[in-house]
Amino acid sequence: MNGLATEKVANGSRAHIVGWGMAVPERVLDNHGLSALVDTSDEWIRQRTGIVERHIAGDGETTLSLSLRAAQSALEVANLDPAQLDLVVVATVTPDYAFPATACLLQDALGAEHAAAFDLSAGCSGFVYGLSVAADLIAAGNYRHCLVVGAETLSRITDWSDRNTCVLFGDGAGAVILEANGASGGILSSVLGADGSGKDLLILPAGGSAQPASAETVQARQHTVQMDGRQVFRFATRIMPDASRQVLSQAGLAVEDVSLIIPHQANDRILQSAARSLGIEETRIYSNLSRYGNTSSASIPMALCEAIEQDLVKRDDILLLTGFGAGLTWAAMVLRWSLPLPVPVPPRRMTFWRNLRYRWVQLRSRWRRFWRRVDAHLFQILYDAEGRRKRGKGD
Ligand code: COA
Repeated sequence: MNGLATEKVANGSRAHIVGWGMAVPERVLDNHGLSALVDTSDEWIRQRTGIVERHIAGDGETTLSLSLRAAQSALEVANLDPAQLDLVVVATVTPDYAFPATACLLQDALGAEHAAAFDLSAGCSGFVYGLSVAADLIAAGNYRHCLVVGAETLSRITDWSDRNTCVLFGDGAGAVILEANGASGGILSSVLGADGSGKDLLILPAGGSAQPASAETVQARQHTVQMDGRQVFRFATRIMPDASRQVLSQAGLAVEDVSLIIPHQANDRILQSAARSLGIEETRIYSNLSRYGNTSSASIPMALCEAIEQDLVKRDDILLLTGFGAGLTWAAMVLRWSLPLPVPVPPRRMTFWRNLRYRWVQLRSRWRRFWRRVDAHLFQILYDAEGRRKRGKGD
């Protein structure tokens, strides 16, 4: 029986990031490749967005498979066994299925047998929403270790004949492990917001209860992203600085205290505008947009991973994460980095055993699925036999 992996932790514990990882598909589609598909050019895409290339999921690659790779790396960095996880959250707008949640599939694939699991849909703000929820559950004393993933395969809901949208998006996943501990620092404050009156500005119109899938919805391309780019742009340039100021003031900090801003990667012009509005140099805003495009809820954790890898994050640094997206939603978070970097690389032997464990978990999951079918079959046989016995008595 599943249950909490750890005893209740102390109320008011702080959530600290102790592991991180990311994954992108191997296949890369650059702007020149795109200009073979739609009427666009490398020059237009670079100038208007800052994007040069993006990664696109290959056959068999899904939001789950990318999440799994990112989560395994994060667990490796945290030197944590999946059985120690209490919670798995996957922020995504491109789950493997409408249900069950991709988080449940991930929980099974990792063998996180004591973890609760759910998906979170808050557009490109999803990852920060997820971090905030997990941090609050840690502060309430409910959980000790939470895995928060932002993962997308946006290429599966992209209209590859619409130049207004197809140049923007890419696929990928990023994950972090949050740990409850008494040390100072960690997640200091967060601001989450929503304005559903902007629902039409960025929407996947069909496939839900409002417009169930039908031949007509497929023909009308209602199962792909539809966006009013200009309106979203205006919203983003206003909300990113507003939410950033609000979350900093909540934490008792000023813009000058921030070492690095890790924003949602949507458009370099949005980032430049945010820098101007906040009055900070662009070098303090991390951008990897050129290589990945907009990966929605994966963009902030992927950017965080790369900023760490590039030695841009040091102990006691104040980081500001900020995003916006479909909903409309927005989210901002301030944290004080509490872990010394770089983290020690786990010995090869340990990695070998971990990989073996993942193989075993996979086999166990298959066995459980098989046994469920056998069990159902046996139950049916017994049920039929019982029916025949009762009918025989009645005669
Ligand atoms: N290649 C070439 N031309 C294109 C094009 C493309 N890929 N996409 C649009 N155009 C054309 C338009 O048709 C338009 O032509 P017109 O003037 O003849 O009508 C012209 O370029 C300008 O279009 P516009 O929409 O004003 O461009 P823009 O400068 O606003 O840039 C976006 C468009 C989408 C890049 C920009 O609005 C944006 O980034 N918005 C935010 C989107 C976003 O972040 N979404 C995700 C949120 S999480």
